[in-house]
Amino acid sequence: MSLPIQIRSISSSQTLHLRKSELWPDTPLSSQSLPYDILSTTLHLGAFIISSQDTFSSLTPPPTANSMTNSLEGGYEPDETPTACLTPPKETGKHDETPIACLTLVLEPYLGKLPEHISNTTGGETLNTVQLHKFAVKFDLQGKGIGRQMLQYVYDLFSTSAMVEGDESLKETLMGVQKPILLHLDSRKVQAGFYIKAGLEVLDGNVFIKRGPTGDGYPHEYVRMGRLIK
Ligand SMILES: CC(C)(COP(=O)(O)OP(=O)(O)OC[C@H]1O[C@@H](n2cnc3c(N)ncnc32)[C@H](O)[C@@H]1OP(=O)(O)O)[C@@H](O)C(=O)NCCC(=O)NCCS
Repeated sequence: MSLPIQIRSISSSQTLHLRKSELWPDTPLSSQSLPYDILSTTLHLGAFIISSQDTFSSLTPPPTANSMTNSLEGGYEPDETPTACLTPPKETGKHDETPIACLTLVLEPYLGKLPEHISNTTGGETLNTVQLHKFAVKFDLQGKGIGRQMLQYVYDLFSTSAMVEGDESLKETLMGVQKPILLHLDSRKVQAGFYIKAGLEVLDGNVFIKRGPTGDGYPHEYVRMGRLIK
């Protein structure tokens, strides 16, 4: 049973503590921000645990399992209905909370080799590219299905614009990007199995090293992963 969470757009500053604690602990908090964080097209998403006091009446219901799988070729089929809510509550005063998970989506080119089955499928259409960055779930909540729910939310956002109804901040960001979209990321090699389970594939298996925002953090091995959203 996945932990019930609510996912909503957050500010870039709300991502910084998780980036430091879960991704680049050697890097000072003041250096966890990156230039892409403040682009008007960049979208930061955060997950919050739903407390028993939260009301659900104002929330858009999640899509059915059918609507998810129909809209995505080879779509990821969760083994249970996702429990993430899809629009923010109409309440105020919670916008400086620290999320329990976060990720950042940036309109950014894909720099690796593209597998033929993806380049062929687009049939000459312009492939818009969105890169997922800085994906982190709070340490003591990892392994409880939160990362999987976050990724499913991202697929759904790009699959149907109806998902952003009610969230003005989403409409102003990269939600205007037209399909087909290549959602891609530099995955830590040790996390590739998680992304594969969540419906992504290795796009380019060449391994490379990154050392974090300041370039002098602990070195991690990466591969390029992604999925096409049509
Ligand atoms: C990677 C991360 C985002 C995954 O989120 P999570 O909430 O822990 O993952 P989930 O619980 O949703 O896992 C979904 C499935 O993937 C599996 N999984 C998780 N991590 C895995 C890994 N490294 N390798 C293989 N499978 C993995 C889970 O066992 C689960 O499998 P199941 O569906 O059969 O039960 C999270 O663990 C994290 O923040 N890690 C530290 C920071 C990090 O490395 N971020 C990614 C940088 S690229």
